[in-house]
Amino acid sequence: MVRRMSLAEVLNTHRVVVCVGAGGVGKTTTAAALAVHAAMNGRRVLCLTIDPARRLANSLGLSEMSGEEQDVSAELFAEHGLPLGGQLSAMMLDTKRTFDELITRYASSDEARDRILDNKIYNYVSTSLAGTGEYMAMEKLHDVRERDEWDLIVLDTPPTSNALDFLDAPSKMVGLVDSPAMRWFIDAFASSGKLSLNLVGKSAALVLKGLARFTGAGMLDSIAEFVTGFNELFGGFRERAEKVASALKKDDVAFVIVSSPSPLSVDEAIFFNERLDSSGMAADAFVINGVHELLSEPPLRSDALIEAVAAVLPAGLDPKKTTRRMRRALDDSRTLAVADRIQADRMKIAVGSAVCVEVPAFEEDVHDLPALARVAAYLTDTAPSPDGAKPT
Ligand SMILES: Nc1ncnc2c1ncn2[C@@H]1O[C@H](COP(=O)(O)OP(=O)(O)OP(=O)(O)O)[C@@H](O)[C@H]1O
Ligand SMILES: [Mg+2]
Repeated sequence: MVRRMSLAEVLNTHRVVVCVGAGGVGKTTTAAALAVHAAMNGRRVLCLTIDPARRLANSLGLSEMSGEEQDVSAELFAEHGLPLGGQLSAMMLDTKRTFDELITRYASSDEARDRILDNKIYNYVSTSLAGTGEYMAMEKLHDVRERDEWDLIVLDTPPTSNALDFLDAPSKMVGLVDSPAMRWFIDAFASSGKLSLNLVGKSAALVLKGLARFTGAGMLDSIAEFVTGFNELFGGFRERAEKVASALKKDDVAFVIVSSPSPLSVDEAIFFNERLDSSGMAADAFVINGVHELLSEPPLRSDALIEAVAAVLPAGLDPKKTTRRMRRALDDSRTLAVADRIQADRMKIAVGSAVCVEVPAFEEDVHDLPALARVAAYLTDTAPSPDGAKPT
């Protein structure tokens, strides 16, 4: 039988680990916990994260995370009695800033750069267009990977509703700049060399004038300026997007698919794995995060239970009613745990021999370094046995 690798080995044998999954399943938490684990175990790690809520910054003792990397202090590890054999830096992905850097790199002159950076449409594309965040996460990864300060880069991915968006981001970005609509605009405007509606071809002018009734001519000028400005960057930009996409296929990149134990999330994780597989980037590990633990049945039968509850209940509370409520809460929790078990097992069967680990649902959010280390212990199968310290 083939021995399953552990997630710790996946970390040890790759330079880049990408955490993907549906929204809210625990990607940021998993990425940070993996980074903490690797840093504790001697590697120089960069955690490249997307966490607008800045929760992660707080757990790593950083007051604010900027687009620059910041070192997580060794004292913070020491304070919590956690050994730090390596080094941990964290960087918050700033989509707009990354896009701006890209424009700056490929613009032919300062004027060309400023024309784009100051453009209204560019502002929208670089901040709000679906897929830009995903693409810029990869772009930044490509950038930091070329530097040699880090042995390991753990990449968190944006809160997309569909994890597949991430994979499609570079081709969509190329598609956007190379779309027939863009080409049409470019042809219509570029021949004149000036951004004026009067100078474009007759049919184009008609369409544009029609459009202008809805959008205002200023808007069209902005579009024209953006499209022609972008066209100038296009060669460099497309080449870059292709490089960024192919860099994900290298052997030193591992994919970790994170899922919650909800049926939809498990479906999506399985589907995403098939998609990765068919693109030549098989997932290296799966994480089922937030699995509810099955609490045991109370050892006492009904009457004895009510008596036991009455003995510890503050005066004024009805033991019978309270016991009934507690019973119902326990039943709900057990139902949830059984449902989670079914989904977690379904996922394990579906992923075959790949690494698949479970992280329990903790009673509190994961908001400090010890909690991240605790998640890491589950991820890497080094958590204490259930009779030792259990998740609270
Ligand atoms: N095992 C767990 N037990 C309890 N709380 C958890 C667990 N894992 C994550 N959380 C909490 O759930 C919330 C969402 O987690 P996280 O931010 O990691 O998800 P995400 O997949 O990155 O979300 P998004 O898609 O919005 O980026 C956080 O508040 C985190 O602390
Ligand atoms: Mg997140």
